[in-house]
Amino acid sequence: MEKEKNTIRKWLFFWIGMIASLLLGWVVFPRLIHSNKEQPVRFSHAKHGEEASLTCQDCHTFRKDGNFAGIPNLTKCMECHEAAIGTSKAEADFIKLAEKLKKEKKNVPWLIYSKQPDNVFFSHAAHIKLAKMECVACHQSVGGKTEKNPPYRYKWISGYAPEVMSMETCEECHQKKGASNACFTCHK
Ligand code: HEC
Ligand code: HEC
Ligand code: HEC
Ligand code: HEC
Ligand code: HEC
Repeated sequence: MEKEKNTIRKWLFFWIGMIASLLLGWVVFPRLIHSNKEQPVRFSHAKHGEEASLTCQDCHTFRKDGNFAGIPNLTKCMECHEAAIGTSKAEADFIKLAEKLKKEKKNVPWLIYSKQPDNVFFSHAAHIKLAKMECVACHQSVGGKTEKNPPYRYKWISGYAPEVMSMETCEECHQKKGASNACFTCHK
């Protein structure tokens, strides 16, 4: 009788421990090492390509000095969205936010998925103007045809979002295309 109780107790503890560690591994731990943030505006690349017939470089422009302007500022958006075009909630929310930001003379605080650490030097002009590369050669998961911008995922341990290109990926292509792989090419 006593022995039987002990075995039951052992199994009970085993299962409690098992379930606790599974919860830790599947639910708690991933949340500790990932943190998801929503973008300030629900932006659809697909709608702007198809319905608004814009090309990538209508919005992601190069300045006169050859520098890449990155994400367009609010003035660009307001060329079309001064008043609502469609009936979607996403657009109405954006227009409300834009009016507030215009009064404060601010831009939309977009989160940059692919942001490299400060010690890395990257130039869009070198890749697009000189090497004539397509955007999708490096940006698969964001931009282009996406219906909704994905959440911005930040990894606490590496400090990088998954969209950040690794040094290996840069170097692999540089080697294949005969571009320089000297350290000072990318680290100034
Ligand atoms: C109407 C203007 C507009 C057009 C046209 C446009 N984009 Fe964007 N793009 C944005 C805005 C606004 C963001 C910031 C929100 C987001 O990340 O979705 C963005 C973000 C991005 C990003 C994410 C950069 C990062 O790391 O955070 C990529 C990559 C991108 N665009 C590529 C493209 C490509 C490729 C095309 C053409 C197929 C394109 N875009 C067309 C406005 C535009
Ligand atoms: C050339 C005109 C044009 C420009 C410039 C433009 N848009 Fe749009 N936008 C559109 C059109 C067209 C739609 C589709 C409207 C519809 O049918 O609901 C749209 C839809 C939207 C929506 C609703 C998307 C959804 O998921 O339903 C948002 C939000 C939006 N635009 C934000 C922006 C932002 C932010 C910028 C600046 C980076 C911008 N737009 C620049 C034409 C434009
Ligand atoms: C050779 C790879 C490569 C190609 C090709 C490329 N990109 Fe990028 N892009 C990157 C990298 C790397 C970053 C991050 C740069 C940084 O943080 O210094 C980036 C960042 C961006 C950003 C965020 C800029 C910001 O505001 O900081 C946008 C928007 C973007 N790219 C759009 C485009 C578009 C549009 C094209 C095509 C016209 C394109 N990219 C082609 C590698 C590339
Ligand atoms: C898919 C191919 C590809 C990828 C990925 C790529 N590059 Fe490049 N890169 C090139 C090519 C090709 C050139 C040569 C352009 C030229 O001068 O004609 C180049 C040139 C450069 C230059 C200019 C070199 C010079 O001599 O002025 C820098 C800086 C650079 N790349 C940094 C990076 C960084 C940083 C990354 C990763 C975040 C990266 N590249 C990813 C293909 C790539
Ligand atoms: C073609 C571009 C390129 C070249 C060439 C390059 N790097 Fe990097 N390096 C990067 C990028 C992008 C990162 C950031 C992403 C990462 O850590 O993978 C980085 C990160 C690093 C880091 C930080 C690693 C970390 O985890 O924080 C060190 C250290 C480094 N590089 C050293 C070097 C040295 C030494 C060389 C020459 C032998 C070199 N790199 C050549 C692109 C390059």
